[in-house]
Amino acid sequence: MSNYAGNDFVTVKGFDRADFEQLFELAQNMDKIVKGRTTDDLLQGSILGLMFFQVSTRTRISFESAMRRLGGSVVGFVDPKTTRIGDYYAESMHDVVRMMENYADILVVRHPENGAPERAGTITDVPVINAGDGDNEHPTQALLDLYTIRCEKGTIDDLQIGFVGDMNLRVFHSLPLALAQYKAKAYFISPPEVSLPSPWIDKVREAGLDFEEITSMDEIIEELDVIYMEGVKTPSYHIGRTETAETRPEMPQEWILDSKKLKRLKSDAIILHPLPRTEELPMEVDASESARYFAQAGYAVPVRMALLSLILDRNL
Ligand code: CP
Repeated sequence: MSNYAGNDFVTVKGFDRADFEQLFELAQNMDKIVKGRTTDDLLQGSILGLMFFQVSTRTRISFESAMRRLGGSVVGFVDPKTTRIGDYYAESMHDVVRMMENYADILVVRHPENGAPERAGTITDVPVINAGDGDNEHPTQALLDLYTIRCEKGTIDDLQIGFVGDMNLRVFHSLPLALAQYKAKAYFISPPEVSLPSPWIDKVREAGLDFEEITSMDEIIEELDVIYMEGVKTPSYHIGRTETAETRPEMPQEWILDSKKLKRLKSDAIILHPLPRTEELPMEVDASESARYFAQAGYAVPVRMALLSLILDRNL
């Protein structure tokens, strides 16, 4: 039995390299189903319950796609305003989890509050997956990011990986923690005011990650095998982009991966981004040989297929 079977997946903590490699090997098999644009009946009869208290494009839709590719079905909500959470009753997450455990066999929870998916896991025996909680973790994004690096670079070990952007973002917490299981070197590259918060510095150090903090992309860009981009100006998760147009601070040029910086990358370097993007990753980068962020978004499906089947303890 794997470490995933029947368990919650709310953090990458507690999972080691062997666990990740087990999932990646299964994801490679799942990828054949995805690439063949076909389906399998591995999870036929199983129901995935979506509980999205925050909006999503990739995470939610790729989980749905993953479940359907394996013959399962999907219920749930993608906007709490369409449930009793959003009306006069302001129904609690506790009560909603108690309902959803009757309606689904595995739950995927995205929530603006740190720790909400973990709390959901204490309310029910049905396995809970964290689809992103506040500025805490996004553990399934970390899995697909590592899988992308493994597929696109052939290895995760011995790479120099630069994380660029606001280090308060949850993608910069789960991925470095998971990366600590490999022999890669990480660079946290950000303006000082959005550097990696000290509790996360302590966590990645404790996990054994080899890392440096840097305040300029210019210092290190030529050395990187992987450059993982995000913006240095954290967007609000709650307000639409057009609504903030007048008050939104401009992305400083030094934090934009423009054509001048692109030319300085190693010829075999790859560019990742969890998406959605803002000005830090101009559309002109899409034509670069190094751009891998749409492939990265695609790998979400086989990786989430593998995770669902491991947690539900059914194997190809
Ligand atoms: N990468 C990611 O989490 O995207 P969504 O917010 O669209 O799910």
